[in-house]
Amino acid sequence: MTHLQHFGRFFGRGFGPQGWGRPDYRWNYEWQKPAIYQQAVRELEQAGFDLLIIEDALSLGSPETLNLRVNPAYGGPKHDPLLLAPYLFGVTSHLGVAPTVNAGAYPPYLAARQFATLQHLSDNRFGVNVVTDVKSARHFGLPELGHDAAYDRAEEWLGGIRRLWHSWGEGAHVNDRQTGQFADASKLDAFHHQGEYFNFDGPLNALPFEAAAGDPTVVSPGGSGRSLGFAGANSDVQLALAPLSIDSVTAYRAKIHAAAARAGRLPSAINILFVIKPEIVDSDEEVDRIVAATRRPSDDVLREILAAQSSDLETDLTVLDIDHSIGPGVFGKHVSQGTVNNLVGAAGDIESDTLRQIATRKASKGRISDKSGFVGTAAQFADFFEELGEGADNDGFIINGDLHPVTVHRMLDQLCPSCGTAESCGTPSAAAGCART
Ligand SMILES: Cc1cc2nc3c(=O)[nH]c(=O)nc-3n(C[C@H](O)[C@H](O)[C@H](O)COP(=O)(O)O)c2cc1C
Repeated sequence: MTHLQHFGRFFGRGFGPQGWGRPDYRWNYEWQKPAIYQQAVRELEQAGFDLLIIEDALSLGSPETLNLRVNPAYGGPKHDPLLLAPYLFGVTSHLGVAPTVNAGAYPPYLAARQFATLQHLSDNRFGVNVVTDVKSARHFGLPELGHDAAYDRAEEWLGGIRRLWHSWGEGAHVNDRQTGQFADASKLDAFHHQGEYFNFDGPLNALPFEAAAGDPTVVSPGGSGRSLGFAGANSDVQLALAPLSIDSVTAYRAKIHAAAARAGRLPSAINILFVIKPEIVDSDEEVDRIVAATRRPSDDVLREILAAQSSDLETDLTVLDIDHSIGPGVFGKHVSQGTVNNLVGAAGDIESDTLRQIATRKASKGRISDKSGFVGTAAQFADFFEELGEGADNDGFIINGDLHPVTVHRMLDQLCPSCGTAESCGTPSAAAGCART
């Protein structure tokens, strides 16, 4: 591999009972305890992964649809990923960990102080995946902002946090045991921030970061025009959800780079990682078997898909007749058009498609070798990663999945079989290269 890329893991269903119903997870499956996550991150680090991002949702959703979340343990309950981070730092030495943080949930002073503490405790490996979901505002006694206003608030929030982080000026931390002076208060910035969404005072009651370390990493996952503007101005890492062709990746990167330039930053300041959920198997025959099996999914598989979609959409699709068209009226006001489009897919039609047709399309899998999907052997994925690195100058990938040792181990066993024994695999971002060893 000539074009070095970064690999990260997106713990896509967050710090909750993601594997609760799975028979292969039952042994020692204590999702509330740190051990399973600690084992998984050790393996990710050994395989050369750079970054772990932990998904989060603050709320269990609307009161009317709570059962869709908690009954199958899909999407809730969830514990706070920020508090899992120190346990993961404790067993790794260079993996970055970025829990998801909603900019509406932590007031800037509290956020700045907690994040600074975690940056120090982790030896500068902390990051935050900044999200702006507004549906949980009622749990905090806050007004539900509009989409773009939530990004405006997040921008003010982050600006305030950065100002607090830098409220210890040059030379403020004296640290001179001979003179007995620890710090120089004249170099602290006791500023007052009065903004549209927040007002608070500095300076921050936490030590500044060492110059070489820099601020914690800011990750952003949004895809709208407003959120790409946020990324251009603020992010170190953008999580990109887009078709994974050379043209599409090139076009997405150009949009982010243009947003960075508009904010007066260098395009190279942002690493753009494309989200992928690979299904890595042993042989071409297995790829064929899996792809063929998804063409005629069983009712059990379809029901599982509908249960997961029901939780995400906060709309119970499992009680509807699977062989009738559903129509747009089934969804409440809380479900956006984009979410419905995503459910139905580009080839579908919400007016006429039956639920069976919709779920069957969701079940359908394709081959990475012909770009019809994401089932393939490790070598085929390595080719694919390499092609996007060289053809689209791609910065890397974020591999979506859970953080159970079983799935992480299975993935790495295929993608990076010699990790843990070969020195070369302990270097950052060696994962796809290892698929070739
Ligand atoms: C890879 C990825 C990860 C995301 N993780 C979260 C998350 O953990 N919590 C959350 O509330 N939203 C998450 N989102 C949703 C985004 O924050 C955002 O709301 C969504 O992509 C819609 O984009 P927009 O805000 O630009 O309209 C994620 C999106 C993507 C693509």
